[in-house]
Amino acid sequence: MADDLTAAYSKNAGLGLDSLANGFANSLALGSSHALGKGESFRGASDFGNIHGCHPCEILAFLLRVQDLMKAVWYDRQGRAEEVLEFGELPTPQPGPGEVRVRLHTSAVNPADANRRAGRLHGMEYPRIIPNSDGAGTIDGLGESVDPALLGSRVWLHFAQRGRPFGTAAEYVCLPRELTSPLPEHLDFTHGACLGIPAMTAYCGLFQRGPIKGKRILVTGGAGAVGHYAVQLAKWGGAHVIATASFGRKAAHATLAGADCVIDYTAPDAADQILEATQGRGVDHIIDVNAGDNLELCLKVAADHALWISYAVGAQVARELPLIALIRKNLCIRGMYLSGLPYEIRCMAQEGLSRWTREVPDAIHAVDSTFSLRDTAMAHLAVEAGTKLGTVVVRCNLE
Ligand SMILES: NC(=O)c1ccc[n+]([C@@H]2O[C@H](COP(=O)([O-])OP(=O)(O)OC[C@H]3O[C@@H](n4cnc5c(N)ncnc54)[C@H](OP(=O)(O)O)[C@@H]3O)[C@@H](O)[C@H]2O)c1
Repeated sequence: MADDLTAAYSKNAGLGLDSLANGFANSLALGSSHALGKGESFRGASDFGNIHGCHPCEILAFLLRVQDLMKAVWYDRQGRAEEVLEFGELPTPQPGPGEVRVRLHTSAVNPADANRRAGRLHGMEYPRIIPNSDGAGTIDGLGESVDPALLGSRVWLHFAQRGRPFGTAAEYVCLPRELTSPLPEHLDFTHGACLGIPAMTAYCGLFQRGPIKGKRILVTGGAGAVGHYAVQLAKWGGAHVIATASFGRKAAHATLAGADCVIDYTAPDAADQILEATQGRGVDHIIDVNAGDNLELCLKVAADHALWISYAVGAQVARELPLIALIRKNLCIRGMYLSGLPYEIRCMAQEGLSRWTREVPDAIHAVDSTFSLRDTAMAHLAVEAGTKLGTVVVRCNLE
């Protein structure tokens, strides 16, 4: 539409409207923080007052411009959430080939989204970034070669802001259709936003080598967003599940997920307790949230031939691996980075999660807290506080 209008205005250059056309095209390209003034938004009738006396074409352009904008949160530089996140209006995105547009109801903040915004692990990958990668909503636009039957579908999605600048802290997001999964009717959009990266990580960590029925599985950090899904999915898969969590409400939360046994990892004899819970045999499979701190514990409780999936490292990033212990136990320690996993494994996880949500309608999708889109900075701070119990969700639907 921007092109059509620019062309229309160009034809009217003799009427002196060409500069308006340029301004209009620019505003669409850069977002209304430029078009309307930073932090300013359309105020309805009062704005008509401001443009009283304009040529009708200008009023039409203004109205179309307003119609094409969405509320969003973005950053143009990295730093503290409250300093760099801006709330305002940006052009509503249009889906490209193979993409869908999702009208978002909810967005979820993962630790990685906060890390990216803070510049902890990555530099600015794009000049402007809309943060957050998970969310849920309704497909309201289709790019070329996307099945028309998808229009109107309720979906949960992941990786919106991975490999592309615009994530889910907005009213709309465009992304490859493959990154969306059907959201069953019994799940609301808040719970749908929880699935995303945490559930995908848990699923891939558990099932990437096939069924886990009858295995003894240790989930460290069973109260974390990933860990809580890992406990529930491992039980669904027929495993015997031992979870670790710090004492108190975190231990209670891990128990709620269905762990057969929850052990306080801060106890000096935590490893002995885990061994005791397996009658001395050790665990066959570990889903681990903190490889740096848990190195000794995992080495001690792993059974011979165990698979140790490590998806996060904690503060102790540089540890020496006791290779002899790994060799003697025939241990496989495998780092896991969801976005680097083969496409087929991620598809398998999406399908598996769809099956799980259908078969276990009362599964827990833990929500720590919810914030309005305008307060996305507070949502990021809630994640960075390190005390969350579940997922921090942002409500994108401003109606
Ligand atoms: N590799 C990937 O692809 C991938 C994907 C998703 C997430 N991640 C990363 O995984 C980490 C967790 O994400 P999340 O969303 O689940 O965060 P979260 O909800 O904050 O959970 C982290 C949990 O880890 C627990 N924990 C920390 N150190 C522990 C230890 N030594 N033993 C046992 N539990 C421990 C914490 O419990 P306490 O507070 O009691 O210590 C907390 O419950 C983040 O660093 C995230 O960036 C990586």
